[in-house]
Amino acid sequence: MVLWKRLKGAVQTLRCRNKVKSMIKETIQDAINRQINRELHSAYLYTAMSAYFETLTLRGAAKYMRVQANEERAHAMKFFDYIVERGGTVKLTAIDAPPVKWESPLKVFEEAYKHEQKVTGWINDLVNLAIKEQDHATNNLLQWFVKEQVEEEANAAEIVEKIKMLGPEGHAFLWLDHELGKRE
Ligand SMILES: [Fe+2]
Ligand SMILES: [Fe+2]
Repeated sequence: MVLWKRLKGAVQTLRCRNKVKSMIKETIQDAINRQINRELHSAYLYTAMSAYFETLTLRGAAKYMRVQANEERAHAMKFFDYIVERGGTVKLTAIDAPPVKWESPLKVFEEAYKHEQKVTGWINDLVNLAIKEQDHATNNLLQWFVKEQVEEEANAAEIVEKIKMLGPEGHAFLWLDHELGKRE
């Protein structure tokens, strides 16, 4: 009898899961899976930037990029959790290798800024898709990312401006490195 009840429970759970599976459209799921790859690639890119700053013994900037990489991984997992919650399937694909070296610290932050602008474009495309598919839940999730991208672009742009003001060499840049190292 106990076994029967357990079996019944398991079948019900499976039915439930199958029902949940229909909660996300394939077009949306595919687009979110692509975005998971991009967020993980962002994490990879910022990890490479952190490694580059370590070679310059700019420990503050290295730490800043390490924290940034962790944030990107958290973004990927936010999308991951959403797909799971809606009974979909997370599909991970190969992540492109980032560069090893940059010309200067300024070039690193300029690339970070350009990269964030590109990500904003992808998030906007996702919003457009969610609207087209009338998927309000996905649109709601994406609004968090719309807001996040405003902050991401502003942060990168601010650092680019500061480096330009201070110049890449000497004491002034070391002060900025110290400031960047305060990021938690
Ligand atoms: Fe991100
Ligand atoms: Fe980002």
